[in-house]
Amino acid sequence: MPSGPSLRQLHAHHAIHQGGLTGAITKTQEMEDLLRAKEFEVARQAADHLVEYWETRVISHADSEEDGFYREMLQQDPTLEEAVVKLTRDHDLLRIIVADIKEMLVEESLTYEVMQQFHALLVVNAIHSRDEERMLLEEPSK
Ligand SMILES: [Fe+2]
Ligand SMILES: [Fe+2]
Repeated sequence: MPSGPSLRQLHAHHAIHQGGLTGAITKTQEMEDLLRAKEFEVARQAADHLVEYWETRVISHADSEEDGFYREMLQQDPTLEEAVVKLTRDHDLLRIIVADIKEMLVEESLTYEVMQQFHALLVVNAIHSRDEERMLLEEPSK
């Protein structure tokens, strides 16, 4: 998928990151509220929706970056190779955690360990977005 101009612009790209993270935080909190209210079945459905949200909003953003944006940045400046390798590993961590969550949900349902993994996604994603903006989009003088 071509990345289009928006991924190359700091403010537009930052807005995509911010929107994705804000939605994930809200949905994680809603799932936790349902658990506290002992609405276990609805909480489990919310967990499935949250997995889908991570896949469609965040992992798909990562996929399209690797298909287009990262390659374009590398063609423009080959010294960015190390940054691209690191950022791609971050994407892989998100993919691994999401796959683990899906497996845990099937095998154990919505346990405390699954909740911890959802929080791990929030942390890894926030650090990744910050580093991606800094390494690929901000002016070197900053
Ligand atoms: Fe990314
Ligand atoms: Fe990004």
